Formats: sequence, structure tokens, C-alpha cells
Amino acid sequence: MIEGIGIDVVNIDRIGRLSEAVKQRLFHPRELEDASALALEVQSEFLAGRFAAKEALGKALGTGLKGISLQEIWVEKQSDGSPKLCFAGRARILVGSRTVMLSISHDQPVSVAVVLLQGGCDGSL
Ligand SMILES: CC(C)(COP(=O)(O)OP(=O)(O)OC[C@H]1O[C@@H](n2cnc3c(N)ncnc32)[C@H](O)[C@@H]1OP(=O)(O)O)[C@@H](O)C(=O)NCCC(=O)NCCS
Repeated sequence: MIEGIGIDVVNIDRIGRLSEAVKQRLFHPRELEDASALALEVQSEFLAGRFAAKEALGKALGTGLKGISLQEIWVEKQSDGSPKLCFAGRARILVGSRTVMLSISHDQPVSVAVVLLQGGCDGSL
């Protein structure tokens, strides 16, 4: 059963202008490491997509991200290139056993992410 959907759009330049200190607050070390391995011109869109994913998750949960550190939510790339949301701490507890689906797209000047939350059985046969 679909329990929630969230979408977010992030301006890529806005992420590019963030200081390193702010980036370290907003992103998991793994995301920053993955970004730093990319060509400079795509680093900001890569991080913008990840920031959009976190905000979209907040919308899908219906509670926003209050009380959750953004470092407790991060995106990993799977072997086929598709993105997967990962969780730690309070974020992991909030998401629980639900399946989380994520899609990211970039088209200057914005990155967009959609998150779908799927719960367990909906009772239908
Ligand atoms: C994957 C694909 C849909 C991306 O579309 P695009 O218009 O080039 O780029 P977009 O900005 O819309 O999307 C990029 C995002 O798609 C996501 N993505 C990449 N591969 C994906 C896949 N197999 N499934 C789902 N999402 C994928 C990633 O999140 C990526 O952003 P990120 O690198 O910052 O995480 C497109 O390249 C495609 O159709 N590829 C077909 C498969 C293929 O040929 N792969 C290349 C292997 S070399």
C-alpha cells in the first residue's frame, strides 16, 4: 500500500554556493565523498539531487524532517546507477519497515527528487 509521496525541487546554484561547513551539516560524509569523486561541474547537481531526496522524504513521511539530522539520511548509488535512500538513528526509526522508493533527475537550473513510501499488506487479496 502506498503510504506517502513527496517531491522536492532544489536550485543547483544554491547548493553550489554553500560553504563547506554547511555542506557538512546537510550531507552524509559518504555523499560528500561521492560528490568529490565527480567532475567539478556536476558536483553541485549531484548534491542538489540528494538534498531534494531528503526533503521529498520529509514530505512523504508527512511529518517533515523536524528532529532528524540530515546526516541520518543519505543516498547511495546502486550498481545500475539508481539511487537508494539509506537511514540511521531517528530517521531509521521513523521510516521503520516501509519500502522507500526514490527517483532523482537534474536539468539546470534545478534537481528534482520524488520519494514513494510503501507500507506492508493493504489487506486486499
Ligand atoms: C539513467 C537515465 C534514466 C538518466 O537519465 P538522464 O536524463 O541522463 O539524467 P537525469 O538527470 O534525469 O537522471 C540522473 C539520475 O538518474 C538516476 N539514475 C541513474 N541510473 C538509474 C537507473 N538505472 N535507474 C533509475 N535511476 C537512475 C540517478 O539518481 C541520477 O542522478 P545522480 O547520478 O545524481 O544520482 C538515462 O541515462 C538512461 O536511460 N539510461 C539507460 C540505461 C543506461 O544506458 N545506463 C548507462 C549505463 S553506462
